[in-house]
Amino acid sequence: MRATYSGLAGIVLSYVSAAAGTKVSSFAGATTTFQFPPAGQTITAPDPAFPDANQVGFAGPTPTGDEADAIATAPTISKFDSVFPLVNPSTADSKSPATGFDVLHNFGNLAPWRSVESSWLGLTNASPIIPAGCSLEQVHLVHRHGARYPTTGAPPSQFATALHGLAGTTGVNVSGPLAFLATWEYQLGAEILTPFGRSQLFDLGVGFRVKYGELLKKFTNLPVWRTTSQGRMVDSALHFAAGFFGVQSYQQDYHQLIQIEALGFNSTLSPSDTCPNANNAIAAFGTTQALKWAAVYLADAQTRLQPFIQGLPLSPSILVAMQQLCAYEVYMRDMVGMMGAYILQTVALGYSSFCDLFTEEEWIGYSYLNDLAFWYSFGPGNPATSAQGIGYVQELVSRLTKTRITDFNTTVNGSIVSSDVLFPFDQPIYVDATHDTVISAIVTAMNFTALAAEGPLPIDKIPANHAYIINNIAPFASNLVGQVLSCPAPANTTSSYIRWILNDAVLPLSGIAGCSANSGGLCPLPSFIAGMQQRISEVDFAFDCFANYTIPDPDTIVTGQYPK
Ligand SMILES: *[C@@H]1O[C@H](CO)[C@@H](O)[C@H](O)[C@H]1NC(C)=O
Ligand SMILES: *[C@@H]1O[C@H](CO)[C@@H](O)[C@H](O)[C@H]1NC(C)=O
Ligand SMILES: *[C@@H]1O[C@H](CO)[C@@H](O)[C@H](O)[C@H]1NC(C)=O
Ligand SMILES: *[C@@H]1O[C@H](CO)[C@@H](O)[C@H](O)[C@H]1NC(C)=O
Ligand SMILES: *[C@@H]1O[C@H](CO)[C@@H](O)[C@H](O)[C@H]1NC(C)=O
Ligand SMILES: *[C@@H]1O[C@H](CO)[C@@H](O)[C@H](O)[C@H]1NC(C)=O
Ligand SMILES: *[C@@H]1O[C@H](CO)[C@@H](O)[C@H](O)[C@H]1NC(C)=O
Repeated sequence: MRATYSGLAGIVLSYVSAAAGTKVSSFAGATTTFQFPPAGQTITAPDPAFPDANQVGFAGPTPTGDEADAIATAPTISKFDSVFPLVNPSTADSKSPATGFDVLHNFGNLAPWRSVESSWLGLTNASPIIPAGCSLEQVHLVHRHGARYPTTGAPPSQFATALHGLAGTTGVNVSGPLAFLATWEYQLGAEILTPFGRSQLFDLGVGFRVKYGELLKKFTNLPVWRTTSQGRMVDSALHFAAGFFGVQSYQQDYHQLIQIEALGFNSTLSPSDTCPNANNAIAAFGTTQALKWAAVYLADAQTRLQPFIQGLPLSPSILVAMQQLCAYEVYMRDMVGMMGAYILQTVALGYSSFCDLFTEEEWIGYSYLNDLAFWYSFGPGNPATSAQGIGYVQELVSRLTKTRITDFNTTVNGSIVSSDVLFPFDQPIYVDATHDTVISAIVTAMNFTALAAEGPLPIDKIPANHAYIINNIAPFASNLVGQVLSCPAPANTTSSYIRWILNDAVLPLSGIAGCSANSGGLCPLPSFIAGMQQRISEVDFAFDCFANYTIPDPDTIVTGQYPK
């Protein structure tokens, strides 16, 4: 239960020394960091004191079993919904658990992935399990990295800096539900995976082995799986591989291709680096739209919370930063929370004090804020979105047709995709690691129109039957899987089909020219390829990414392209 807001005296955020009234320092909002291992401590291998497992021997019997094939043999898919070891935070109105409300699953792109029902986009009876009679030929996996700290300069650190600055100068007084800010420190790193984020990718790798391990039998070479050079991207790819192959052998079991992620370098897994309109006011449109909504859904919170802080006006963007801080602190501090639960028999540190400043309705509003931000910056409503996703579509077509790309006029990196070694065509399992904004660009470029069917999203209310939900599309460790299947066809023949599964929800492909409605999400492979080739010719990369234009009427954009 919440404590009552009234009757608490303001706390001055600056230290007051023994010499009364003299301000000596302030620490609220200060950034704290920690380094491990201890300075000067490193492992020098081989170390005779600590022989490795090969040197020690005595491993006991190590026979392997057969590969698992759950995607074909299990009667139904096992749903994934792990937030271990995170503790679910509460809300200001604390309706949960009575309502089953889950703050964690209203974090938008900061939510942990979980299985989504296929009914989400209308395929109520579809399942990721291979349809009876069909056999699996190949899978194409595109996944996001796991839970990370805020990106550099994101709102949480801006809030900490603002608070810290004001505390040390004009002073800030806090009380009631905001009293914790008097001693609050900013403990978050930036960019890299949190411990929970590492477990997400390990789990994804384990799950993929159990579902698709059978496909390893079709490999004649070692797999080549791709990621980008960013710290969290390499870490995510390695954790996926460790989960898939096991930590003792994964470095011998596959090749990890690491594409450079930096401005000016071509990589379909970080396409904004070669698309100027992904880095200017055109890309910022989503933020503009989202902040209009923030003023609506956070109006009550502003009125409710402002009396408990003087010296810092609670603008909608500050309140959004506080909601983001809830997410990030949960990802970080819950490790402490679990220890508290087991060792100290208390969960006092097990959640962020920012979470229960907001009501359930305000968390639903926050979830929608992310939908708007993505729709208008990296989704159907931004004119440079499909251009960013189209490079992956070209690579997909190249893999499906075993035909080398010859025109390099998008984000594709010619020196990678022209190489049999770096970009092989004979893989039963393709794995590409990428970002939230790239997954949202890829599904837009591929014309998964069911995601955009509700049209441009309103900035003043959440639409009924809302489908463009970033919690479902691009959460941490989000995974998009293309299954290439061989299924019975008329006249005793078999045909190849493809279908796409996003976080376990089977997607309807009916928006793609040539793919007719199918209750299992299947499209004949040749029709799908023709549709993708049509998309490649429909998307004007040079104009959408490079031309000097302003955002046209948002009502005219639903395919992530500048209207022609
Ligand atoms: C292509 O990728 C490789 C490896 O990441 C990189 O060295 C090279 O500079 C890239 N080429 C371009 C044009 O970005
Ligand atoms: C904080 O409270 C003190 C003591 O009441 C007061 O002097 C000061 O003006 C307040 N500061 C702000 C920023 O409101
Ligand atoms: C990188 O992308 C640019 C822009 O599409 C293109 O002109 C260039 O040829 C590409 N370079 C490579 C090596 O693919
Ligand atoms: C399909 O194969 C079965 C068994 O081989 C055969 O009896 C049947 O006539 C075939 N049907 C067609 C349409 O070719
Ligand atoms: C993509 O979707 C748009 C809008 O629904 C449609 O006009 C276009 O023909 C589609 N393209 C393909 C290749 O299916
Ligand atoms: C790339 O170049 C080819 C050949 O010149 C052209 O047909 C195609 O439209 C171009 N694609 C883009 C996205 O500019
Ligand atoms: C884009 O066009 C506007 C209006 O014509 C002009 O003011 C601006 O300098 C142009 N920007 C660039 C980068 O060329």
